[in-house]
Amino acid sequence: MSANDYIRRIGLIGLGFAAWDLKLPSYAAIDGIELVAVADPSPAARERAQRELGIPAERCFADPYELLRSGLVDAVDVSTPHHTHADLLVAAAEAGVAAACDKPLAMSLEEADRIVAASERSGTPIGVFRNFAHFPSHAKMRELVEQGAIGRPSFARVSAIGVFAPDTTGANAKSWRLRSEVAGGGITIDYGIHAIYLARGLLGGAEIVRVSATIDRVDVQAGDVEDRVSMRLETADGAYATVDLTWGGGSTGDVTVFGSHGVLKIVHEGGISAPHNVARAVGHMTDRRDETLHELDWTRDPFDWYYRGAIETFLGQLDGRPGVTAADGRADLEIALAAYRSAALGGPIALPLDPADPVYRRGAAGVRELDLPADSVILRKRLFGGGAA
Ligand SMILES: NC(=O)c1ccc[n+]([C@@H]2O[C@H](COP(=O)([O-])OP(=O)(O)OC[C@H]3O[C@@H](n4cnc5c(N)ncnc54)[C@H](O)[C@@H]3O)[C@@H](O)[C@H]2O)c1
Repeated sequence: MSANDYIRRIGLIGLGFAAWDLKLPSYAAIDGIELVAVADPSPAARERAQRELGIPAERCFADPYELLRSGLVDAVDVSTPHHTHADLLVAAAEAGVAAACDKPLAMSLEEADRIVAASERSGTPIGVFRNFAHFPSHAKMRELVEQGAIGRPSFARVSAIGVFAPDTTGANAKSWRLRSEVAGGGITIDYGIHAIYLARGLLGGAEIVRVSATIDRVDVQAGDVEDRVSMRLETADGAYATVDLTWGGGSTGDVTVFGSHGVLKIVHEGGISAPHNVARAVGHMTDRRDETLHELDWTRDPFDWYYRGAIETFLGQLDGRPGVTAADGRADLEIALAAYRSAALGGPIALPLDPADPVYRRGAAGVRELDLPADSVILRKRLFGGGAA
């Protein structure tokens, strides 16, 4: 039973990799919910839901808007390609169905504003999953920072190298993740959202006031999006974070936070999909004794916790507890979009973005309306609708 002693009726919208491989094991580990309906245009996905989840055919919708109107669910979990998020979340709010969305909240700030407004107007909670923040190693690191273990944090570094690793000669060559009109960009708006909220968390949740970034497309030649990004995020009081991410083969990563009284570092090791599927996380804290923060027991399926903390946070939001709101998801998105603007023009970008800015209105695609320098990476690599392969 949930804290409220009643069962939440949940619908899943989008039954792809995130839903099947990452979320369902987490849902299975949570009490007080029942998966009662699904929606996916793919007949194969709907048949699988009948077969493996035992959901009757009449509750397996091809059209997600029918699910939202059905009255069958209290809340939906949206795991669909990014270009569908805004319309689905607005429709959910208008139908009075609470919704939790995967990152990114949307592809542009104009879309994000529509979602925030619909949630506020209807009083319907919209949550955003910041699931990496609940991974045992990241949660432990944040807890130590909040306890003051390293004093005042002034610098954080998040790196994730070689994540996603699309096989561009295989089925992934046509992946929607590599097409800007569907994904809203490449690694920055995708994995980068996780890195952004982790970095902000390690700086104590401070507001980011300035963003500088470079992006490039080096290894992943299919599609029209970037496969690497380096960002610098600055707070008003001079603290900052650096974020380095690449798509491609191999996978490693580490997270460091430096404070007035010490340093914490976590290294994610062991496995092709580290660091997001943390096989082993070893933390060191200086200024005290070296300390192993957390070692995961690999005999346990890591996917039971992959989304569990984020889903539980959303369920708490439905009970009126603080959660990660659409406005929070918007803030993460704004930083990713500022990174695109910075990378396109060169130089730092002050936040907030101006509503008249094409990047505010159209997301990454909007950089093409800017007065780009002749050597801009956007032109050189034909990104974001520039005709790259
Ligand atoms: N937070 C994480 O750790 C994490 C990990 C992976 C993916 N994701 C996110 O999850 C979301 C889905 O990614 P994925 O990897 O599962 O993609 P995917 O391509 O594997 O699956 C997407 C599914 O959505 C369905 N779909 C497409 N349009 C739809 C619509 N309008 N209504 C209902 N279903 C629709 C597709 O048929 C497909 O089954 C994205 O936002 C992605 O960024 C998050």
